[in-house]
Amino acid sequence: MKSGRSQIWGRQKSFSWFRGIIVASIVFFIWLELNFLTYGNSVSNFQDLNDSNAAIFSMVPAVFHKFLTPRPKNNATTTVNGSLNSENTKSGVPNITEIKKNLNQYNQQQIVYNEDTFGPLQNDSVVIVIQIHDRITYLRHLIVSLAQARDISQALLVFSHDFYDEEINALIQSIDFCKVIQIFYPYSIQTHPREFPGEDPNDCPRNMKKEQAMNTECNNALYPDLYGHYREAKFTQTKHHWWWKSNRVFSQLEVTRNHSGLVVFLEEDHYVAEDFIYVLKLMDKTCKDSCRHCNVLSLGTYLKTYNYYEDAKKKDVLRALKHKSLINGAQIQPSWTFQVLPSLYQHSQKVEITPWISSKHNMGMAINRTTWEQIVQCASFFCKYDDYNWDWSLQHISQNCLKQKLHAMVVRGPRVFHIGECGVHHKKNNCESTAVVSKVQQVLKTAKRHLFPDYLTLTYTTLLKKTKLRKGNGGWGDHRDHKLCMSMTLR
Ligand SMILES: *[C@@H]1O[C@H](CO)[C@@H](O)[C@H](O)[C@H]1NC(C)=O
Ligand SMILES: *[C@@H]1O[C@H](CO)[C@@H](O)[C@H](O)[C@H]1NC(C)=O
Ligand SMILES: *[C@@H]1O[C@H](CO)[C@@H](O)[C@H](O)[C@H]1NC(C)=O
Ligand SMILES: *[C@@H]1O[C@H](CO)[C@@H](O)[C@H](O)[C@H]1NC(C)=O
Ligand SMILES: *[C@@H]1O[C@H](CO)[C@@H](O)[C@H](O)[C@H]1NC(C)=O
Ligand SMILES: *[C@@H]1O[C@H](CO)[C@@H](O)[C@H](O)[C@H]1NC(C)=O
Ligand SMILES: *[C@@H]1O[C@H](CO)[C@@H](O)[C@H](O)[C@H]1NC(C)=O
Repeated sequence: MKSGRSQIWGRQKSFSWFRGIIVASIVFFIWLELNFLTYGNSVSNFQDLNDSNAAIFSMVPAVFHKFLTPRPKNNATTTVNGSLNSENTKSGVPNITEIKKNLNQYNQQQIVYNEDTFGPLQNDSVVIVIQIHDRITYLRHLIVSLAQARDISQALLVFSHDFYDEEINALIQSIDFCKVIQIFYPYSIQTHPREFPGEDPNDCPRNMKKEQAMNTECNNALYPDLYGHYREAKFTQTKHHWWWKSNRVFSQLEVTRNHSGLVVFLEEDHYVAEDFIYVLKLMDKTCKDSCRHCNVLSLGTYLKTYNYYEDAKKKDVLRALKHKSLINGAQIQPSWTFQVLPSLYQHSQKVEITPWISSKHNMGMAINRTTWEQIVQCASFFCKYDDYNWDWSLQHISQNCLKQKLHAMVVRGPRVFHIGECGVHHKKNNCESTAVVSKVQQVLKTAKRHLFPDYLTLTYTTLLKKTKLRKGNGGWGDHRDHKLCMSMTLR
């Protein structure tokens, strides 16, 4: 009896030992997969991802669910000055007169929401400028991520719009975790649908030959871009908007007038880690101690990326983008392949010091007024360079005008992510797909214990393969664009 029992016991033990090995090796392979295999292109890696709304909600504290939930349309009651709203929903056509009136009012009044609660802006507060078009789903997730960031209560969020929409306004005005201001780009295509900077009926068609254009006497016949193409309004808006909002924030807004601290640039489809402000301040401090020539801080890193600029050499980049932008609802999106490995955060304290490269360091970028004042001195290099990308234009400034070139401190483990990935989730082929949101949530959860590093370690990158700019990507040959852009800098 005794021996029998011990035998059973022994068998159980060896069975559980065996099972332990199996479990351990499964865990090991999962770990291997998580750490070393790319999450990227292959569909198979995505199939296990639970990106249902329920799963995404379960990763967000309940108090912030309100930012993810569209408000029920309350038809009868709370339409305070909702004429625009009802106008829109009735006819589907926005009343441009009304929109212009409203956005001018916003730009004049410069209301800072929640200032009573959180007090005036301090120099050591971070100003976060977010360029927004119309993708409210992504914006909701960005807001949720901002809400969870440490020290967000001292920050000022500046939402810079190029599309007026009451639902977006309501969402932004519901933010209660920090100070908020909205600014509106006044030269949008939305408010200029049939005139410059929108598309004038008498503008030359993109592919018309110059000779023919001269004969038809279309508006911009003299000014095709360096690839011989005429202007396409929707490709010009992002760069104009970027330049406008930067000028607005650094030189015109009352609330930021005396601010000499950091200004971070984000976009509607970004997502921040909870320590992004903490890391930014740590980087700023480290710069002052150890990298006096660093003048840009960058919180996002693209790991393995597909670079559409590279393709420009071979293919017709504008055409490719046009195709993409149609899928995308008329918003130009670079086709970055999203790849983040949790293992990266094992070196979460690592930062790299490197010359600023537009395509690598344009995400979650921060500068202060000192740097801006050098940039704005070079306005004509930005505004007259035949490239419709703001980041490449900035690089053009850096290489050809600035005495002190842009030099960046970049975090290895990204604190800003790009969630606006279109077409990554092949199964759904859905631009509003939240698969990437879900993935970022998982990555950050896995990386949680590596966040909030105590110190940073620096690595220096001096030799660069090819930073010499090619001749520009075109799309910015029209002199009306040059003039409009320059006018934004005049005070
Ligand atoms: C996804 O996650 C949610 C919430 O955690 C759960 O209710 C649902 O069953 C999951 N779906 C799948 C397919 O695993
Ligand atoms: C809102 O509109 C719906 C349908 O148009 C209607 O059934 C409902 O009663 C309205 N609600 C109010 C509060 O008027
Ligand atoms: C609504 O519009 C009217 C007139 O346009 C204006 O006087 C009033 O202040 C507005 N109310 C709100 C809450 O914006
Ligand atoms: C747009 O709104 C203005 C008043 O804000 C009104 O005078 C005008 O008739 C409206 N236009 C259209 C097309 O509805
Ligand atoms: C911020 O610093 C600048 C220059 O250092 C100073 O002129 C300004 O008054 C300060 N503003 C605040 C709000 O502390
Ligand atoms: C900026 O500084 C000026 C001069 O010191 C002061 O009059 C003004 O009130 C300040 N503005 C803000 C928003 O702090
Ligand atoms: C602004 O950044 C520059 C580096 O570009 C730095 O030297 C300067 O101290 C910073 N100014 C403030 C007020 O932090």
